[in-house]
Amino acid sequence: MTDDLRIRPVREDDLVEFFVHQLDPTASWMAAFGAEDPTDRRAFAAHWVRILTGGENLARTVTVDGAVVGHVLAFPVGETIEVSYWIDPACWGRGYATRALAALLREVTRRPLFARTATDNAGSLTVLRRCGFVVRETGRGYAPGRGHEIDEYVLELPASPGTDPR
Ligand SMILES: CC(C)(COP(=O)(O)OP(=O)(O)OC[C@H]1O[C@@H](n2cnc3c(N)ncnc32)[C@H](O)[C@@H]1OP(=O)(O)O)[C@@H](O)C(=O)NCCC(=O)NCCS
Repeated sequence: MTDDLRIRPVREDDLVEFFVHQLDPTASWMAAFGAEDPTDRRAFAAHWVRILTGGENLARTVTVDGAVVGHVLAFPVGETIEVSYWIDPACWGRGYATRALAALLREVTRRPLFARTATDNAGSLTVLRRCGFVVRETGRGYAPGRGHEIDEYVLELPASPGTDPR
């Protein structure tokens, strides 16, 4: 059986689910560069207001058979565009992040695109590699989700024939 995975614009109701996803300690540790305090509702709300009102951001809710299972994002960082994603821990290991990111990459046609992940976030690294990203460099930065500096990979999805090079 194939789960019917789709991405669609974020609705206000979805944020309740995203907040619950963020509360998972393992997820928060993996993401590393997320919220300092995942239980802080005000900070979460302010973060999502910025995402949803930032004209250059593309935020999509991931649904499977109509149920919300996570989100994917594309957002500007300086002159570049980066992507990120978060899937409900109850649904990990079913290929949802890979399929959701692939769907986002069909919507966001600009190349190259970039992504960052903690070097020990093996699941995220797998997702990015399966979608065509390659590791370009290793950096070090403060990770609010861990409370200290960690190593991170910067990955690039290079331009390929037929993609928009803007
Ligand atoms: C990273 C994340 C998005 C992966 O979501 P997912 O839907 O489970 O991803 P997929 O099923 O598409 O693929 C993940 C792959 O990595 C593997 N994987 C997951 N965790 C792993 C780990 N700790 N070590 C090794 N492999 C791991 C999975 O088994 C799967 O491979 P498989 O298909 O061969 O079994 C999810 O764990 C998550 O939301 N984490 C918290 C937020 C986060 O880290 N976001 C990324 C920020 S850069």
